[in-house]
Amino acid sequence: MNAQKLVNQIIYNKNSTPIKKGYGQASINIALSKYWGKRDTELNLPTNSSLSISLPNLGTKTSIEAISKPSDQIYLNGKLLANTEIFAKRLSKFLDYFRQTKNKQNYFKVDTTNTVPTAAGLASSASGYAALVLALNDYYQWQLNKKQLSILARLGSGSATRSIYNGFVIWHKGVQEDGLDSYAEELDISWQELRIGLIEIDVSEKKTSSSEGMKNTVATCELYQAWPAKAEKDLQIIKQSIIEKDFPKLGRTAESNALSMHATMIATIPPILYWQAESVTTMHKIWHLRELGTEVYFTMDAGPNLKLLFLEGDTEIIKHNFKNIKVIKPF
Ligand code: DP6
Repeated sequence: MNAQKLVNQIIYNKNSTPIKKGYGQASINIALSKYWGKRDTELNLPTNSSLSISLPNLGTKTSIEAISKPSDQIYLNGKLLANTEIFAKRLSKFLDYFRQTKNKQNYFKVDTTNTVPTAAGLASSASGYAALVLALNDYYQWQLNKKQLSILARLGSGSATRSIYNGFVIWHKGVQEDGLDSYAEELDISWQELRIGLIEIDVSEKKTSSSEGMKNTVATCELYQAWPAKAEKDLQIIKQSIIEKDFPKLGRTAESNALSMHATMIATIPPILYWQAESVTTMHKIWHLRELGTEVYFTMDAGPNLKLLFLEGDTEIIKHNFKNIKVIKPF
């Protein structure tokens, strides 16, 4: 199965009557149990399932409309990108799946605005492709269900499969070759006291993209063999700790999961180290605060920034210790 066939299968028989302009909006998500490694790079099929939390009000807003121009026009945060830019190329390649078959020459104007820095390890490709798929669904009036939207978003970026939903989300890795069983679902549980703190260490563009990083890790890292089982086990523990509202168990497991993923990155040849000196200093500070009795944990993605996990009652002490922290209430 290739991606185009999968898309055709999903939108087959769907009424497709484009309106003037389609809109979509999606939140970023932070994985508590991470996705790292693919079993199929074209379909973005992961080697392990993952569990995330979406951050409301942080993400991407996108609109799409047809234009009579010789190529796509991609606007990112109000600026028209050159078609040669990586961001625009990747997006146009994704749009190729959705151009109307009879006339492949139809192009789009896509206007996408992020409320998080692009490619800074804050998962903006996740909200980006989820918002784009929602905008396409609106534009073509397909009326796809969330599972179908989640599969389409996955083709743009793996983690986008989770950004179709709010709250806690599980992306089932699936086992089928066609990827039709690899989609996300929302956990119907909220956690009012939970807080996520964003600590921005460096928001400049990362050198190694997640796709490239995962590919090299899978190909060269001997530690990676242990990762899929660890990830599946962590996901179950985290899910259980959400059900039981056991915060220390959730924090401990999410932190260990992130560090294990980073261990596989570091043991890749050549090594991938997303951390900066300040990332490590911040980790020590978190561990020190924990020794002193504050239940605070962290997770990190493909970048130097940290995401803190804590409960409402500790907000003041966290704000006092991390001056530039941005505190998010996910529920
Ligand atoms: C470390 O979804 O950005 O953030 O599928 O190649 O687009 P592609 O990768 P991407 O990878 C995200 C990796 C991660 C962990 C996670 O979000 O689960």
